[in-house]
Amino acid sequence: MSEQPPTVLLEKRDDIAVVTLNRPDVVNAFSVRMRDELWEVLAAVRDDPDVRGMLLVGAGERGFCAGADLTEFGTAPSQTIARQVRWERDLWGLLLGIPKPTVAALHGYCLGSGLEMAALCDVRVAADDAVFGMPEAGLGLVPAAGGTQLLPRLLGPGRAIELLLSGRRFGAEDALAYGLVSEVVPRSELVAAATALLRRMLRAPSPALAAAKRAIADGADMPLAAALDLERRLAASLSA
Ligand code: COA
Repeated sequence: MSEQPPTVLLEKRDDIAVVTLNRPDVVNAFSVRMRDELWEVLAAVRDDPDVRGMLLVGAGERGFCAGADLTEFGTAPSQTIARQVRWERDLWGLLLGIPKPTVAALHGYCLGSGLEMAALCDVRVAADDAVFGMPEAGLGLVPAAGGTQLLPRLLGPGRAIELLLSGRRFGAEDALAYGLVSEVVPRSELVAAATALLRRMLRAPSPALAAAKRAIADGADMPLAAALDLERRLAASLSA
């Protein structure tokens, strides 16, 4: 039996880790195997001292990721167990907690968990052909990669509810207007534009970047006074 290619590729370009979702034949649908391989790759990105930032991209022409692999629905012991494993290993917590800038470069279809993976990154850049959507509700599911929590925080609750409940697909210009992506660029310039944005961030020293990420992430869960105190402490620790 021929060996299956990896579902996630890791390539280092200087101090940037380029992580590629690599199931182009099925629009990089997120499978159980991809979950396990992404876990290994993201831990390597987090722990490698030579890696200062991460670019997340999808292989192939059709899109970044068309969501959960629909062919696996019903094949796992149960949807409940599959989800339990997901939470126990907390893949999404791992992605969210990487203390280095993470940028998602989005082209073509970016649906369901594909959109959620992008939302777990710090910054998103879209190609002009990108198509976004959250189809879970229409499939009788609820998003399980953070969509119900991340989209309201990124887009505001009103817009997020509309998109989560209707499953409406929307394009790159709408994504820009909603604040989901920072930039829309021609498809041919996507990786260069996302890399340039990441490189701009990497002009700052790594401890400053990690502290800013921590202040924003941890502060969001705190009352304002406690969050301001956290910011003060992080600022003091950097200037010390
Ligand atoms: N899971 C498994 N396979 C998927 C998939 C998914 N989420 N999305 C696409 N594929 C597969 C298709 O079955 C097809 O396989 P085939 O070539 O063996 O027939 C291949 O990827 C290409 O998809 P296709 O539908 O032919 O391309 P398209 O350009 O007409 O449409 C999509 C692309 C993404 C719009 C469409 O495939 C789609 O709606 N996918 C499902 C999206 C979804 O509901 N995701 C789940 C979220 S919970």
